[in-house]
Amino acid sequence: METKIESLRIEALSAIAEASDANTLKEARVRFLGKTGSVSLLSEGMRSLSKEERPIIGKLLNELRAAVTLALDTKESTLSAAADAAALSAIDSTLPGTAPEVGSLHPLTLLADRAVQIFRRLGFAIADGPDIETEWHCFDALNTPADHPARNEQDTFYLPDGRLLRTHTSSIQIRTMVANPPPIRIIAPGAAYRRDEVDATHLAQFTQMEGLYVAPHVSLADLKGTIEFFFYELFGSGTEIRFRPHFFPFTEPSYEIDIRTEALGGKWMELAGCGMVDPAVFEEVSKLRSDSAYDPEKVSGFAFGFGLDRLAMNLTGISDIRMLTENDLRFLSRFTA
Ligand code: DAH
Repeated sequence: METKIESLRIEALSAIAEASDANTLKEARVRFLGKTGSVSLLSEGMRSLSKEERPIIGKLLNELRAAVTLALDTKESTLSAAADAAALSAIDSTLPGTAPEVGSLHPLTLLADRAVQIFRRLGFAIADGPDIETEWHCFDALNTPADHPARNEQDTFYLPDGRLLRTHTSSIQIRTMVANPPPIRIIAPGAAYRRDEVDATHLAQFTQMEGLYVAPHVSLADLKGTIEFFFYELFGSGTEIRFRPHFFPFTEPSYEIDIRTEALGGKWMELAGCGMVDPAVFEEVSKLRSDSAYDPEKVSGFAFGFGLDRLAMNLTGISDIRMLTENDLRFLSRFTA
């Protein structure tokens, strides 16, 4: 028995040493260690041994199994390391790689980010509000009476429950004041919705940026200074800015802001509405807050609202506003952050 074990050991180890690929090695594993492999068959011979011989032979058989297993495992890792090295040697790491396509921010996002950065330097914080609004936040609280054209079903997307898609970001002014006492200094970029026929200059969803500053003694001079600083920063100090008297229900006095700069084609362009917050707005807000934090005798404020789409169109030199929503990569990939 001992001689059989020894010769099987020599046979197995040399077979393993000679195996030159993973398949041959697998066959060797089955041949020696499999259920009906040589080592197992030899172990069956144990039954015919005497009581004294059994432990001695058993030990030798165990040692045989361990030695063959070790040899198989060692050879297996040697072979797989060699296979990896062979695969890698076929790769030329000096060849240029395939560049992944990198996305970029949308021109409207880039513009909103720039605008936000400028206002942040003046201490404005970002505020937010829901796109689906109540009529009260969108109109009543903003001193916009029931017969105002903006409230017409033809002009506004109403939901069956009476709420609506906000027609302007001005509703964020109201939400901010209802939730926080003065001083308030916020800007709020966001979507606004109107039932416009979609064409080269109109979309049913567009982007606005609202601003609001409320504190004791805020004046029209503060409004002008803030707006001028913003446009000088955005377009350069050579920009011309014009405040044209206008009407908005929620500000008094109210203005439209036109600017003229080479960056926007050298023509006067109407870009924003603004004005001093109407005391009626403070009074509506105070009713809901049921305190006197926004007493129009104690605080005053200014507000403004820009359309970002038209600004983005002029800055990017496109004549069709729909390009901003079509996700055409030939257009979008021109812009990098
Ligand atoms: N909400 C106005 C619009 O959509 C823009 C606007 C005008 C906002 C005057 C204001 C403002 O805050 O004071 O046309």
